[in-house]
Amino acid sequence: LDNAIRVAPLRLSDSWRKQQVEAALCKVQLTGAKVLRIKEVFHSEMERGIHQQPSSLQMENTYIPELPDGTEEGLFLALDLGGTNFRVILLELANGVVIRQHVKHYHIGEELRLGCGERLFDFLAECVSDFVRSQNLNGTRLPLGFTFSFPMIQKGLDVGILLTWTKSFNCPSVVGRDAVQMLREAINRRGDSHVEVLAVLNDTAGTLIQGAVLDKRTAIGLILGTGSNACYMERADRVQHWEGQRHGEKQVIIDIEWGAFGDNGVLDFIKTDYDRKVDDNSLITNSFTFEKYISGKYLGEIVRVVLVKLVEDCVLFGGTASDTLLTSGAFTTSLVSLIEQDTVDNSCDNTSEILNKLGLSYDADDIAVVKFVCETVSNRAALLVSICTAVLLERLDRPDTTIAVDGSLYTYHPRLKSWMNKYIRLLAPGKKFRLLLAEDGSGKGAGLVAAIAVRLKQRFSE
Ligand code: GLC
Repeated sequence: LDNAIRVAPLRLSDSWRKQQVEAALCKVQLTGAKVLRIKEVFHSEMERGIHQQPSSLQMENTYIPELPDGTEEGLFLALDLGGTNFRVILLELANGVVIRQHVKHYHIGEELRLGCGERLFDFLAECVSDFVRSQNLNGTRLPLGFTFSFPMIQKGLDVGILLTWTKSFNCPSVVGRDAVQMLREAINRRGDSHVEVLAVLNDTAGTLIQGAVLDKRTAIGLILGTGSNACYMERADRVQHWEGQRHGEKQVIIDIEWGAFGDNGVLDFIKTDYDRKVDDNSLITNSFTFEKYISGKYLGEIVRVVLVKLVEDCVLFGGTASDTLLTSGAFTTSLVSLIEQDTVDNSCDNTSEILNKLGLSYDADDIAVVKFVCETVSNRAALLVSICTAVLLERLDRPDTTIAVDGSLYTYHPRLKSWMNKYIRLLAPGKKFRLLLAEDGSGKGAGLVAAIAVRLKQRFSE
């Protein structure tokens, strides 16, 4: 295993520098033994979570009891809140697939993302009104699915109590409150649209649902974007957290919330000083430990923190950093993807351009070091995601599973997909699987879940 997961060796003309850089990155490279230990810990945290014992994994029941069956049709609204853009989408479904859609993006500024909860929801309601008006649908009753991609305690398909904010949001007054209720209240305060909020869901659930439309073997939904998380189809008899009436469900989608994996210390054996720094610089510290190792919001920042350390050790850029390099958040994950593209192409064009823009002076060895850091940090992320995905595949007990994936990191990083294919195969031997890009699961999935909610309502009112 050690050999299969190692990144390519660093080649530098100066052997002292090479040794120093390798020593500084040694802890970021996972060993085979650590990989196997993470696998075991993740498995046991999942078991504990699903049995409602203390665990860093929430394993939340989403109350989505079935996948689309191909009968979904009509007009639906979808809202997508999770990144810095809020989207309102009108979807027309026929025979369970989206045949037409209109999307509008609304930017959510920092004052709303970090401010008062009511103001945030008033803004969301204002966007809904604006959108409905622009589509000439003011008088129409529209079922709505709300993708709210944050950890929630769910008490039903249309109840989602925010447990904690993550990523770029932190409006403290919303924590502990039902996002659906807050949205309904804000819409009612305006009183100018006739939307009916029927379901709240996580982006991973939307991705699984959209994946299932594309490929019936889909049983896992995975997001690798600003944040990271996964959900999967679990046997209903294994799930202990149910509230309200049950309707003979055979399976249900479980939202793992793996971003929080390790928040209870179970992963401390892989934590490096770089990870501690990234956590210290983050919006909510000591929270979402695993997400800070793997997701798009943090990969660039990990690389930056490592580079700054190498400059301090005088083994990079002649010991001189630039102001930009010293600014937290200035080295984005999109830069990591560009530099990784150079490694794939055996080029250094992107890397030199980036270093120029960052105001750094460099030589050929510096370029090799920067590429090595990006590769090492990216490879660790790919490994960590693959370990958890392999555990899921083993749990599912199916002959063949499609994993629906979405998110900016997965889409734009040039190497993640091939690493994941390799590592998952290695860690879940004998399990047949494929990674399927399910674009815009959080939008399309929300429309489909709203349609499923309408169907369930009709079924149980008969
Ligand atoms: C964060 C959220 C989670 C979401 C993920 C991807 O981890 O807590 O709910 O699925 O980001 O957007």
